[in-house]
Amino acid sequence: MVTKPDVPADDPVKVAEFEARIANGESIEPKDWMPERYRKQLIRMMSQHAHSEIVGMLPEGNWITRAPSLRRKLSLIAKVQDEAGHGLYIYCGTETLGVDRHELVTQLLNGTAKYSSIFNYPTLSWADIGVIGWFVDGAAIVNQTVLAKASYGPYARAMIRVCKEENFHKRQGYEICSVLASGTPAQKAMVQDAVNRWWWPSLMMFGPSDKDSPNSADLLRWKIKRFSNDELRQRFVNLTVPQAMAIGLTLPDPDLRSDESGREWSFGEIDWTEFFEVVAGNGPCNKDRLAARNAAQNEGAWVRDAAEAFAAKHRERVAGAA
Ligand code: 3HC
Repeated sequence: MVTKPDVPADDPVKVAEFEARIANGESIEPKDWMPERYRKQLIRMMSQHAHSEIVGMLPEGNWITRAPSLRRKLSLIAKVQDEAGHGLYIYCGTETLGVDRHELVTQLLNGTAKYSSIFNYPTLSWADIGVIGWFVDGAAIVNQTVLAKASYGPYARAMIRVCKEENFHKRQGYEICSVLASGTPAQKAMVQDAVNRWWWPSLMMFGPSDKDSPNSADLLRWKIKRFSNDELRQRFVNLTVPQAMAIGLTLPDPDLRSDESGREWSFGEIDWTEFFEVVAGNGPCNKDRLAARNAAQNEGAWVRDAAEAFAAKHRERVAGAA
């Protein structure tokens, strides 16, 4: 299981050189020397990110066959395919740190690896697909545009590509919500219900509050994270409240208040008990998500076997020809 790194102390001279490179804003590349703790933190964070992308396909994939029009179906299929690509892309980035993706995938399948809590909630109506694009991908954009400046080169570069696609995801989601919000009363009620259900879990995507974030000190010091969990959460709230107002939807937080500028929004207390329960595996859909991933892994075994057999034959042919 990829857990918090307990690693032996590194050579202090090398650490000092490394810290100077970080302070200097340099990009750390796979073949560069890095503290073992830096490497382990990246494996932890990047593997969970990749797992999140893969599991994130499930709640939305649930609505591909029920999209209300061909146009909606096309954009949803494209989005779900993008998420798969993001997952594979970030697994590749994780492998540059010397870890094997099969080990990571095994940890996801046996329930010992984390993935984003947000994907453990059910998608109950078509409006959920719009709200996921708007809130969840919107939150991912806030987080990942900053990760595109992370000190570890492969991760930062992966984020540049990912963010371009996330922007499409958010726009198609917000358009679904704006159409429903200006539709029939039943459509408006459906999208308002989805907003009510997804708002607080979306704020939880940014992690626990800063005081309860054991990894942030490392990640901020080494410029993997450039802002804290609470800072990014606040940035997301400030961005999203005006968007909700613009399409006539309300957010389920009676404590939401703007400052005099109208740009900074204070908000109510997050239910951290719910957050830690979902992270611990006790959310509404945790068991379904792992069951679906394990079923897909088992049903796809023949593809892996066929690919392996083909590769072995190819190796024999090449060896025979040499
Ligand atoms: N869901 C599940 N676990 C979470 C979590 C969440 N929303 N937020 C935090 N955690 C876990 C952390 O993994 C950590 O556990 P660990 O030490 O066993 O790994 C623990 O809670 C304490 O949290 P920390 O704040 O100390 O952890 P981090 O410093 O890693 O911060 C994070 C958490 C902000 C999620 C950070 O890991 C991060 O930015 N990750 C990369 C981006 C990412 O994963 N985004 C979310 C999903 S991807 C997505 O949205 C796809 C899009 O296409 C829709």
